[in-house]
Amino acid sequence: MGTVAATDTPAVDLADPGFWQLPAPARAAAFAELRRLPGPVFVGERAGERAGGAKGARSGRSAKGAKGAKGYHALVRHADVVEASRTPAVFLSGPGVTTPEPARWVRALFGDSMVNLDDPRHAQLRRIVSRAFTPRLIARVEDDIRLVAARLIDRVARDRPEDFVTSVAAELPFQVICNMMGIPEEPRRAILDQVNHASENTGVARPLRSRIRVPGRGLRALARMQGMVAELGRERRRRPTDDLISALVTADVDGRRLTGRELGAFFSLLLVAGVETTRNALAHGLHLLTVHPEQRALLLGDPDRHLGGAVDEIVRHATPIIQFRRTLAVDHRLGGPEGPLLRAGEKAVLFFGSANRDESVFTDPDAFDITRTPNPHLGFGGGGPHYCLGAHLARQEMKVLYRELFTRLPQARSVGEPELIPSNFDHRVRALRFTF
Ligand code: HEM
Repeated sequence: MGTVAATDTPAVDLADPGFWQLPAPARAAAFAELRRLPGPVFVGERAGERAGGAKGARSGRSAKGAKGAKGYHALVRHADVVEASRTPAVFLSGPGVTTPEPARWVRALFGDSMVNLDDPRHAQLRRIVSRAFTPRLIARVEDDIRLVAARLIDRVARDRPEDFVTSVAAELPFQVICNMMGIPEEPRRAILDQVNHASENTGVARPLRSRIRVPGRGLRALARMQGMVAELGRERRRRPTDDLISALVTADVDGRRLTGRELGAFFSLLLVAGVETTRNALAHGLHLLTVHPEQRALLLGDPDRHLGGAVDEIVRHATPIIQFRRTLAVDHRLGGPEGPLLRAGEKAVLFFGSANRDESVFTDPDAFDITRTPNPHLGFGGGGPHYCLGAHLARQEMKVLYRELFTRLPQARSVGEPELIPSNFDHRVRALRFTF
């Protein structure tokens, strides 16, 4: 399979912000069309702009990616996303995995989080962090999830809030991560506001003016938060407790432990990677279980049997993280020696949501089926060294929360459609009305 002719320009334009505001079924149909093409499309962007949110950008069906052309190869098939994820020496994360790429000065100031690193630094950091996630810590976190979930559902039963996102879905993962890290109660409200505020302003629908204004505010907030965590780190190094920060600053792996800056960067990563994603998954899940009453009946009829499958099917169907990008280290033919040529220095974007609807892997991929077996979805990534560090934690949070919710309030269901924030990065839910 060679490169795809540029003349074959498809109607689908992934670089058009309007595309990300289409209803989900229209976007799913567009990706299905892209998966049917013989090779990945090359999505062009205007100079100075980056994928999605790039007003006026164009996409053309071409894997040629002419040297110097701004844009990226859109990897939309399951096999291609897996290949890119598991070939990290070819598909680099170091130049930046998010869209837009963080400016160099931002990275210099805040330090690199491991999501934006390649080996050997990535492996080194990940070893320290994984070492700190000891079985004892994980067991304690599981007890903590149950406590936090029970408290949230108590509050729901008492106060009868209207919005599931602010009252439950955003709170659970945030409180769990703060408890894990040992963040004191006092600054938590301000931190959560900052996280919500920053994410509200990264959707593609935001007017350009606010997209320019907000990063400064977000960065100041981030700097304050990281300073606070670094200070906690210094304190715990002097007087370790049994929280994650203590484990991170005292774990000695190959003669290394986390510096204050690395600790701050890691906390920010956990907040961004672990709170938003789980919050969106929880909200989409409640809605999916509402609009598919037969699946809901199955789950409530035998939660021990179906909770695990339901959680993975929610993550597949909703795919909270839409895409991450990589940069080609060397020339590479996708899928083998006859495959399309991607050139050194070019970008490739891994569309997890599209991979999760790949009809060559999933039977009836648009259906929501909690008994789907096997379910090799890529909602937590395509494998490889950057595979989601929190996949186990996220699954636990979702299982515990739904069990608590449906045991205590078996009538719980969403009302109307979720209020979505258009984004090319994550499937973000601003609000979801619910009742019980
Ligand atoms: C439903 C919830 C979640 C989803 C859908 C999700 C999804 C993802 C995805 C797609 C990646 C990129 C994988 C890759 O590039 O191969 C990732 C990485 C990551 N996730 Fe998650 N995640 C979730 C929850 C969490 C939680 C709860 C935490 C932390 C407590 C977490 C921490 C991380 C970290 C640290 C990374 C970067 C790992 C690395 O670069 O080595 N995630 N996640």
